Parts: sequence; structure tokens; C-alpha cells
Amino acid sequence: VVDNLATIALTIDGSEKPIFVGRGALGLADELLPNLPSRVFVVSSPTVWNLHGSRLLSGLKRIEAVPVLIDDREETKTLSTAGKIMDAILLDKARRDDAVVAFGGGVVSDVGGFAAAILLRGLRWYAVPTTLLAMVDAAIGGKTGVDHACGKNLIGAFHFPEAVLADPELLATLPDRQLRSGLVEALKTLWIGDAASAQTASGRIEQMAGRDPDDLDVLIKSAARVKAEIVGRDPREEGLRRVLNLGHTLGHAFEAAGGYRDLTHGEAVAWGLAAALDLSVARAGLPEAEARGMREALRRLGPFPRPVRDPEALLAFLRRDKKARRDGISGILLERVGRARIERISEEDWIAAASRAVL
Ligand SMILES: NC(=O)c1ccc[n+]([C@@H]2O[C@H](COP(=O)([O-])OP(=O)(O)OC[C@H]3O[C@@H](n4cnc5c(N)ncnc54)[C@H](O)[C@@H]3O)[C@@H](O)[C@H]2O)c1
Ligand SMILES: [Zn+2]
Repeated sequence: VVDNLATIALTIDGSEKPIFVGRGALGLADELLPNLPSRVFVVSSPTVWNLHGSRLLSGLKRIEAVPVLIDDREETKTLSTAGKIMDAILLDKARRDDAVVAFGGGVVSDVGGFAAAILLRGLRWYAVPTTLLAMVDAAIGGKTGVDHACGKNLIGAFHFPEAVLADPELLATLPDRQLRSGLVEALKTLWIGDAASAQTASGRIEQMAGRDPDDLDVLIKSAARVKAEIVGRDPREEGLRRVLNLGHTLGHAFEAAGGYRDLTHGEAVAWGLAAALDLSVARAGLPEAEARGMREALRRLGPFPRPVRDPEALLAFLRRDKKARRDGISGILLERVGRARIERISEEDWIAAASRAVL
């Protein structure tokens, strides 16, 4: 029995792709996940599988689950790893009605979902995220893919999971830095689309950072709802969905300028958000009092390693942004907590905001 199970509706191209969130939900995997075939391939990493594989297996009691374990470091989120997953599945006589279950963080769901997208021109897949970031972000939204030497996430496909199942109890073992990075992304999502939940979360930062399971449960449900709502209205990021990139234009530049080592993605986004808040006050009428509250919430998740702020280094990455044009790079600004807009911002203004950002 799972008390407090939430089912978040997401409709993509007319078909239902529900998101289930609840403590203990993993134990009900084969009752909750719709249309499971008699056999699934579980893409996971040795770490996640050793910690939590037995729980997943007891949730998938009625079907055969074949583990396919991969190295889940960002450096191995590559075509070659997707190839290894496909080798394992094809050598096991894959059929069109088999399905993939991605059981891990965002690396596992990105590469596992991508292998599912191209195997036999598309196997169904299910996401069972095990990091906070994957529960509120990576596992929701159908973006799958791998990195290339020329940049992150350059090879990929939209392929929506049939369902997402998030069990906050899995977060008990997550390293602290990963947990805090996920909290940054969850706050970001609430700031874009749910002022009331953002307010609640701001008041419970310490409890969430201390992994209070009920607080995490509430946070995941509210952030997943906002992301699902936005994705449902613009599944292939033709417009509106871009607001989810709040804090990510500079965030990606900080992350890249640190060689993807100095800062986690969430830490880089925290600095990107700090800069976006300043720009929002200056350009979008965000009240300074609201910006101060958001900066304070971020500060309580830190301290974060300091980013590279060298203008030349940042500009090199900003210019590579997929949204870069001659007259600037589009950025996301907040008009109020809960209301975001897209605006063109010049390189000079980005660099100035990057150098001023404080947390
Ligand atoms: N597709 C999307 O829309 C989307 C959105 C955001 C991020 N991403 C991608 O997600 C990736 C980052 O994902 P992430 O932050 O989940 O990190 P991750 O997948 O790199 O996992 C972080 C670490 O935590 C470990 N881990 C996972 N679950 C655990 C658990 N329950 N207990 C203990 N350890 C656990 C993993 O083995 C790994 O070492 C990036 O590649 C990013 O590009 C994709
Ligand atoms: Zn992000």
C-alpha cells in the first residue's frame, strides 16, 4: 500500500504517459506501469543496481526483468554506450513488444531512453528515476540522447516514456552533492510555474537538504507537475517549453568553462539562476524583494564551488548556445515568481550579469 500516491497526467500526441510519485511506489511497479510486456530490459548502473535492484525486482514480480548494466559517468554517455545496450538487447533476441526500463539518474535515462528510441525503430520504455534531478527533470519530457566530442546532448531523439515512476525513498542513498544539485533544479521549475509551491519549498529548504522524505515527496510532486504541464503544451520545444531553461544559458557556460568537473550541472545552474535573477530585476520588473528570497533559498543549498567568470571563456561557450543569434542570445527572465518570459539579451549583458552574480 502506498499512501499519498500521486498520478500526474501527461498527454503526448493523444496518448497518456502518466507520472507516478509516492513513497514506496517502486514496490507496486508492475501494477502501476501500464501495458508492461512479459519481459523488460532494465538499463541501470552497477551502483544503482547494487543499492536498489532488489527493490525494483520485487516491484516487477510478475514479469521477467533482464538487467543491462552500464557505466553511468557523464564521460560514458556516448553512442558507444548506447551501442552496448543495443548489443545486449539484440543478442537476447529482442522483439518489438519488449520494453526498456531505465533505472538510474539522468545519464541512465538519457542513454537508455535513446537506445529504446532507435532499437527496432522504437521500443517502448519506462523511466524509474533514482536521483532527484531525474525525478523532477531528466526522466520527464521525452528528451533522450548522448554526448559527442563536439558537445553535450548533441545526438538524440524525442521518445517519451510510457510512464515515469518516482519513489522518493530511493533518495536516501544519494550523495549529498547530487541531492543539492537536484534541489536547485526543482526550485527553478517551481519559480517558473508554481509560486505557491515555491513559497512552501523556500520555507522547507533545510528539511529537504536533510532529506526529510515527506518534504521531498511534496517537492517532487509539485515540480513534476509543473514540468509535465509545460511539456504537455509544447512536447517538442517549439516555443513555450524553452522557459524551462531558466538559469541554463549561463549555467551551461559555467559548467563547460569548469570543464564539467569543477561544478555539477545543478551547481552551475545555481550560479546561472543568480545571474538570471539580477537580469530579471533589471529587465523584466521582477520585484527585488522576490529576487532576494530566491537568492536566499539558493544560498541555503550552498556554498557552491565558485565558477570561472573570465569573459572570453564564457563567451566562447555562450556563442555555441543553440539559441545564439547575431543580435544576442535568448534568455529566460522572471517577471514574478511563477511567471517567466523569453527575451533576447546581448553578449555584453550576459557577461556583466555573470561577473556580478553572487550567492
Ligand atoms: N533529458 C533531459 O531532459 C535531461 C534533463 C536534465 C538533465 N539531463 C541529463 O541528466 C544527466 C545528469 O543526471 P543526474 O543528475 O541524475 O546524475 P547522474 O545520472 O550522473 O547520477 C549521479 C550519480 O548518482 C548515482 N546514483 C544515482 N541514483 C542513486 C541513488 N539512488 N543512490 C546513490 N547513488 C545514486 C549514479 O550512479 C551517479 O554516480 C546529465 O547527463 C544531463 O544531461 C537530461
Ligand atoms: Zn538543468
